[in-house]
Amino acid sequence: MNIQHNIQLQPYNSFRTKAVARLLGEPQTADELSEMLRLFPHEKKLILGAGFNVFFTKDFNGLIIKPAMRGINILSETDNEVVIEAGAAEDWDTFVEYTVLKGFAGLENLSLIPGSVGASPVQNIGAYGTEAKDRIIRVNAADLQTGEISVFTNEECGFAYRDSIFKRTCRYIITSVIFRLSKSFNYKEKYIDLSRELEGVPSPTLSQVREAIIRIRSRKLPDYTVLPNAGSFFKNPLLTKEEKEMLQHKLVDLPLYNVGDDRFKTSAAFLIEKAGYKGKRRGMVGTYEHHSLIIVNYGTDNGQEIADFMREIQNEVCQQFGVMLEPEVWIF
Ligand code: EPU
Repeated sequence: MNIQHNIQLQPYNSFRTKAVARLLGEPQTADELSEMLRLFPHEKKLILGAGFNVFFTKDFNGLIIKPAMRGINILSETDNEVVIEAGAAEDWDTFVEYTVLKGFAGLENLSLIPGSVGASPVQNIGAYGTEAKDRIIRVNAADLQTGEISVFTNEECGFAYRDSIFKRTCRYIITSVIFRLSKSFNYKEKYIDLSRELEGVPSPTLSQVREAIIRIRSRKLPDYTVLPNAGSFFKNPLLTKEEKEMLQHKLVDLPLYNVGDDRFKTSAAFLIEKAGYKGKRRGMVGTYEHHSLIIVNYGTDNGQEIADFMREIQNEVCQQFGVMLEPEVWIF
């Protein structure tokens, strides 16, 4: 079994902050994972995917488990659909590219999202009107306490906006994810930015949609290999009807999406921008000049600096607009 000691985590998080883990294990199979969990029952544990949505502010005195299960397998197929399983350690966008090349529809809107397949259900990744939960039918995961592997149906995953049972309980490690994809594709307009990018393309193919998304994302989002970052830093806040009405008095052009039950999602990027924080820098940390929701690292290896800047944004937005932004990124 592959367990390493005193490992520097800087290469393992896309913000590139420094911290040392006492133990790091990379199980390659579900059985190896179960064995590792049984070997270290009392060790404090942390699960790390590809590290695109996490950063460290201090050393970790415990066992970091980084699932290394690979493989993409078609489990069943009909004329219209395919059921496909991908190992937790598969790179998300390589998997999406594979499905698009095969002509399997359903994940194309989630192109170029950094991360691993195993992270896709944890925070129910989403973009351009699609969420991972729309296509996930089952998730295989091990219980951190017992090492036992169970199957979660879509319903049992308890999916919500950037949320799931895996995120809420921190009790399971995902080993593989099973998706149901379609063999036919009809482009449906769901998101204004995407429709704009596809203007003049009469009936976009799967590949054309993927390419359009790659173009939009590349324009708006910084490349983490040049400017370390973790994508959207905060979740988009949900407002009650009263909160929404109060905020509209202050911000007449507030973007709002009615999500039912008298709840309204607004744009965290917009609030940060209105608070004067677009492209703002504090030492070696700042928000991206083209997208205020992205915090970028301009050259620190100290996660505390990023956390301090996060709190500054939260305080400023809260003071000006009465909304407490919640981080989407995990901070350890
Ligand atoms: N906006 C601003 N200022 C900016 C950028 C955006 O005011 O600097 C406003 C505009 O009104 C714009 C709106 O924010 O119309 C929405 O912007 P965008 O389409 O970029 O979406 P987002 O809400 O910022 C969400 C996801 C992204 C996902 C995009 C596209 C969250 C927290 N973020 O961002 O996901 O790619 O939609 O669907 O839900 C991620 O989770 O890491 C991520 C990148």
